[in-house]
Amino acid sequence: MAHGTPVLSLKRPLTVSKARVEPVADSDRAWARLVYAYAASAATWLVFGTLVGLYISFKFAAPDIEHVPWLSYGRLRPVHTNSVFWGWGTLALLAGALYVVPRTSHRRLHSYGLAWVSLGLIDLAVVVGDVLLMAGINNGGQEYREFVWPVQAVFAAGVVLLAYNLARTIAGRGIEEIYISNWYIMGGFLWTIPLVVFAYLPFYQQNAIAETVVQGYYMHMGVGMWFTPIALGLTYYSLPKLLNKPIYSYSLGVLAFWTQMLFYTMIGAHHFIFAPTPWWIQTVAVIFSVGMVITLAAGTGNFLLTMRGSGRAIARSYSLPFILAGTVSYFLFSAQGSLEALRSLQGVWHFTNYTVGHSHLTMYGFVTLLVWGSLYGLLPRLTGREPPQLWVGVHFWFAVVGLALYGGALSVGGTLQGLSWMSGVPFIESVKQMASFWLWRAVGGTLMFLSHLVFAYNVWRMRPAAVAAGEARADVALEEAAA
Ligand code: HEM
Ligand code: HEM
Repeated sequence: MAHGTPVLSLKRPLTVSKARVEPVADSDRAWARLVYAYAASAATWLVFGTLVGLYISFKFAAPDIEHVPWLSYGRLRPVHTNSVFWGWGTLALLAGALYVVPRTSHRRLHSYGLAWVSLGLIDLAVVVGDVLLMAGINNGGQEYREFVWPVQAVFAAGVVLLAYNLARTIAGRGIEEIYISNWYIMGGFLWTIPLVVFAYLPFYQQNAIAETVVQGYYMHMGVGMWFTPIALGLTYYSLPKLLNKPIYSYSLGVLAFWTQMLFYTMIGAHHFIFAPTPWWIQTVAVIFSVGMVITLAAGTGNFLLTMRGSGRAIARSYSLPFILAGTVSYFLFSAQGSLEALRSLQGVWHFTNYTVGHSHLTMYGFVTLLVWGSLYGLLPRLTGREPPQLWVGVHFWFAVVGLALYGGALSVGGTLQGLSWMSGVPFIESVKQMASFWLWRAVGGTLMFLSHLVFAYNVWRMRPAAVAAGEARADVALEEAAA
């Protein structure tokens, strides 16, 4: 072997070497530990939540795999959605917010102690909520609010404390302006806190049609006014930072912000088109869903124009490709939602797996990819340790290809499903037709899940260096030389 040709010649490396992030272990180690704890918690929830998602996706292909009540589809589905919403998405976004808000406010976070309490409360709520869901104890059949109210109250307490903490940080900022990221981040908190209160007020749970209207409002405000603004807020910081140039237009950012507030708050009823809710509420929702294209064009236009001319920088970075893919997904799959809201298309797609495809193309293709981009770009600056480039690449491609299979299978399969129902053939025909699409979804889901294991490993590799800034740089250089 000593004289043989090496399989991977040094002249032909497996991957193109990416630019270094220039990690700097910030002198404030307590801050690094705090942000890292949020990111590590989020990664754990991602692995757990999507393991459950993967398992239930296999149940479509093999429904009789087991008959344990705790593992039944009806119980595990909300375990998946609540874990990825409140455990993964929320904590990952908050990790980013805990970095971006103090940085752009030019001051220390108001209280580290309170932020640790918030993390504890949120983690506790998701653990207890999930266990209760598996035991069959839930809040009724309302999506994304299946946790019983005492559990959600603990979650809300964590979020409210963090909102207070971040607001105090911004209020005591060391510069005059409030950077646009902080508009989006604080907007997310301001919109979501009353939303959670409405959604859990007991009398809304009992009035049939009112409950439907509230449910539509809750679902869309949840994705649109919590995950969306915070993900965009982080990107308004990380994109210009990683490209080392200013955002293309501050005004476009402000336009996107206010139109988001105007249009998004009105579109919840599009989840229940043709339901016995007032026809005018549905029509308003359809009109504003189409109006959202203005917000999308302003938001994604701003990001893409910022990236214009920086193709080389994006290709050389390991975090910017996540941000590019997330930005493109934001436009494409939200615009898909605008189409989905039209009555003619709702007639085909509603109730089908097409909707589940849209959910993942947005929550995953847009929110999750953008959060990954920000975490890979920002964490090393704080912790002093970069992730291994090869494994970031594996993460990216497994996630993107997996999502393409997942979204593609359900979009095509869901359309055929809807057309089959409309043609009036027996229902079982559509089930048989879906079998291969469900299998492809499980294949895509497997790739996505594997990418999450790799992400968790990469997060571990970015753990805070327990040394001062200069030594941390030497530590990174040594690791690289050893690799
Ligand atoms: C222009 C923006 C958007 C519009 C107009 C839109 C429209 C829609 C419509 C009409 C549905 C209902 C489909 C049905 O039940 O037949 C839907 C579902 C959904 N959308 Fe969007 N969407 C948009 C953006 C987003 C974004 C950015 C996210 C995630 C961050 C998202 C996440 C979801 C989810 C999770 C569902 C499924 C809800 C459920 O459980 O039924 N959407 N969307
Ligand atoms: C390995 C990756 C994943 C797999 C295999 C997976 C699988 C699934 C499955 C099988 C369902 C149930 C669909 C149904 O009832 O027909 C589901 C629902 C859902 N998942 Fe995932 N999931 C994954 C990742 C994620 C992530 C990371 C998020 C969010 C960040 C997410 C958000 C959702 C949402 C919002 C729904 C409800 C969809 C709807 O009602 O329209 N999933 N997922």
